[in-house]
Amino acid sequence: MKERTLAIIKPDAVRKRVIGKIIQRIEDEGLEILEMKMVHLTKEEARQFYYIHKEKAFYDSLTDFMSSGRVVALLLEGEKAISHWREVMGSTDPAEAKPGTIRRLYGFSVERNAVHGSDSPETAEYEIKFFFG
Ligand code: RTP
Ligand code: MG
Repeated sequence: MKERTLAIIKPDAVRKRVIGKIIQRIEDEGLEILEMKMVHLTKEEARQFYYIHKEKAFYDSLTDFMSSGRVVALLLEGEKAISHWREVMGSTDPAEAKPGTIRRLYGFSVERNAVHGSDSPETAEYEIKFFFG
């Protein structure tokens, strides 16, 4: 069944100039890009986007990072798009991510890990609405 998910190319990857490489990978994986935009989130917007993590110790640092520069948000569609995209991203910590995954290739640390992907149909719905209405 076709599914939709929200991907973000995070500020570290934008600064590293690997937007093109990540988008090429998305297309090579057979995921379809339905919408795409570049935005610089405010701290408050980053807090809203990651509200599920509001109790976590890393919430403030994460939302500082996510509002530190421009990001590219993409609405992706494909078979099992949510799990497919998360497999392509790799583990949260780039050091633990499998070779060939985007986080292993372009991530720097558990926080500066290049990309985001929705983790369930419910969060995908919230996150897609957040960026694309
Ligand atoms: P994401 O939501 O960004 O796709 O990443 P994820 O599911 O793999 O990881 P999650 O647990 O949802 O954490 C969200 C983001 O918070 C940062 N983080 N920092 N310092 C830390 O221990 C820590 N843990 C997570 C990462 O940027 C992670 O992607
Ligand atoms: Mg997550």
